[in-house]
Amino acid sequence: MTPSARPQLVPPTDPNVERAAELIRDGRLVAFPTETVYGLGGDATNDRAVAAIFAAKGRPAFNPLIVHVTDPDAVGEVAVMDGRVEELAGIFWPGPLTLVLPRRPGGPVSLLACAGLDTVAVRIPAHPVARRLIAAAGRPVAAPSANRSGAVSPTTPVHVAESLGTGVDLIIAAGRCRIGLESTVLDLTGAQPAILRPGGITRDRIEAVLGPVLASGQTAEAPRSPGQLASHYAPGRPVRLDAREAGPDEALLAFGPDAFVRGGRERLNLSPEGDLDEAAANLFAMLRALDRPGISGIAVMPIPDQGLGVAINDRLRRAAAPR
Ligand code: TXA
Ligand code: MG
Repeated sequence: MTPSARPQLVPPTDPNVERAAELIRDGRLVAFPTETVYGLGGDATNDRAVAAIFAAKGRPAFNPLIVHVTDPDAVGEVAVMDGRVEELAGIFWPGPLTLVLPRRPGGPVSLLACAGLDTVAVRIPAHPVARRLIAAAGRPVAAPSANRSGAVSPTTPVHVAESLGTGVDLIIAAGRCRIGLESTVLDLTGAQPAILRPGGITRDRIEAVLGPVLASGQTAEAPRSPGQLASHYAPGRPVRLDAREAGPDEALLAFGPDAFVRGGRERLNLSPEGDLDEAAANLFAMLRALDRPGISGIAVMPIPDQGLGVAINDRLRRAAAPR
């Protein structure tokens, strides 16, 4: 079947979630809300569905997908778990933590979803609509963020429709995502636990459970999580960091009090009170809103590198990286 001409946005009623689950079982793609960002979901056990995800995003096939399930038993079906996984699961799942684990030999997940690696990234999302959908589909759901590869991640259903157009069969629309930044990706397959992508759960909180964890970028080898590629999360217009003022044609993305910051044809403030959780929730929507005709670039004020600020700064550095 070919996708319909326009993706349909539907509210998360029981019949709509059931219909979405049926589409997933048929190998089609459904965008759905999670507490982090909207995901583009397909049957993780179906190679053709997984291939369709890569095609819809324009994503390079060497960049593996996260597999979403509803409970730790289901994690055990796709991956090899150890005591650390159980400890982390007890504290952070369901929630914005993705674990990279050894893939279960002979497990059901499409090799393509894992980009041919012998590891698999799994997460148990907290959003009730995501949980209902995965449960109704009755199988693990592979879901990258529901945007074109390299572009800004979607935190509203309208962002998904703008970004993916006809590449998705149905969009379950359930408002803004609470966290607004992707999950933390933690690799447990190496000699030491390593954060591959900072996100919704901070390193301190993980270290309180596991002891020392390598920060993102501290691993010696080449990017293991291609979300670490330099240019990513990028709006169409250039992004300039650590701005103390904005030019007349620039847009200003402020943080904290900005009354005395000069310039900016347009201005938005991630959090006038300087709250990093609020800033994280606003980041992608505001980058999109400022990325518009008449604006030469987006000047971003400094964000403290603590708490969720670490993940915010990670995304901003990639948004500002040379393309
Ligand atoms: O919050 C999130 O994680 C969202 C929602 C939809 O769950 N998903 C998401 O997926 O951000 P995506 O595909 O945009 O990012 C997945 C990240 C990428 O950086 C990818 O390289 C990494 O996880 N990843 C996936 N499988 C991996 C593996 N086996 N080894 C290392 N990194 C992996
Ligand atoms: Mg993404």
